[in-house]
Amino acid sequence: MSGRHVPSSVERPARILDPGLCLTLRPMVYPNFFEMYRDAIKNTWTVEEVDFSTDTGDLQKKMSDAERHLVQRLIAFFATGDSIVANNLVLNLYKHINAPEARMYLSRQLYEEALHVQFYLTLLDTYVPDPEERHRAFAAVENIPSIRKKAEFCMRWLDGVQELPQLRTRGERQAFLLNLIAFAACTEGLFFFGAFAYVYFLRSRGLLHGLAAGTNWVFRDESAHMAFAFEVVKTVREEEPELWDDALVREVHAMLDEAIDCETQFAEDLLEGGIAGLSVQDVRRYLEFCADQRLATLGLAPRYRTKNPFSFMALQDVQEVTNFFERRVSAYQVGITGEVALDLAF
Ligand SMILES: [Fe+2]
Ligand SMILES: [Fe+2]
Repeated sequence: MSGRHVPSSVERPARILDPGLCLTLRPMVYPNFFEMYRDAIKNTWTVEEVDFSTDTGDLQKKMSDAERHLVQRLIAFFATGDSIVANNLVLNLYKHINAPEARMYLSRQLYEEALHVQFYLTLLDTYVPDPEERHRAFAAVENIPSIRKKAEFCMRWLDGVQELPQLRTRGERQAFLLNLIAFAACTEGLFFFGAFAYVYFLRSRGLLHGLAAGTNWVFRDESAHMAFAFEVVKTVREEEPELWDDALVREVHAMLDEAIDCETQFAEDLLEGGIAGLSVQDVRRYLEFCADQRLATLGLAPRYRTKNPFSFMALQDVQEVTNFFERRVSAYQVGITGEVALDLAF
């Protein structure tokens, strides 16, 4: 016997980061997480629905070498990015967020990250016919410095928490919060949002509609993942306000600065051939604009005070919501059929 207190799985922990495997859903302590899970289910999509038929023609006939280079690098990042996020979900978030309704959301998110991996794999197979080149895309994490730098940023925040069996001390809980913020605000909220900007820039030029169509769904998913993570941060802050001190805020600022630098280096790499209408400076401004939005969600003052230079991204939010609700009618009916069948089986 180690003598360590083993928390009951029936009693709810006093705080969401208290160690254990709580199994009790009634009474539900965090109904907002359950609602987020239900909302995510309504947003179900499949890779097979995405039509890539015009994309290959665009790549071969309509795009310049510089644009093809941009797309190739983007795919190289996408090919591994979601796997890194999924890894953090399994190794850190699921382990330490001790509320069954929140773990339901994380299970759903894990499925969505796998769907994203499948989407980008299909993209890679469609865009890159040569097996050798495909292999090189997956090796980008090691071979392409700007992508390696982003992966190293994520891995450092992942490693910082992974070795902790339980969150016992103030320092451990702060490390967990920083991991959560790094993945939500930086990996999903800056690296992915930065990548989406290139996709929508190309769409605004009438290019790669298949990629843009799939990205609409990924964009929607990533926005929900961030909302969940920030809701967990808010919950922890309410339960343990003493964790949120000036030092932690300074770490958040430093983390955002570093993520913007990483992503700017990626932009220099992507745009090295020169693409009219898209500059590294504007990408950086867009990232700073996004970072201020993440800070606002965390209840912190803006740090960069930059305007969104990409009008095509401002439209994106509106368009995405419209697409989502237009699509709901058929998707919802599929859900109903499934539920009825399930009830009958039981
Ligand atoms: Fe994802
Ligand atoms: Fe995500």
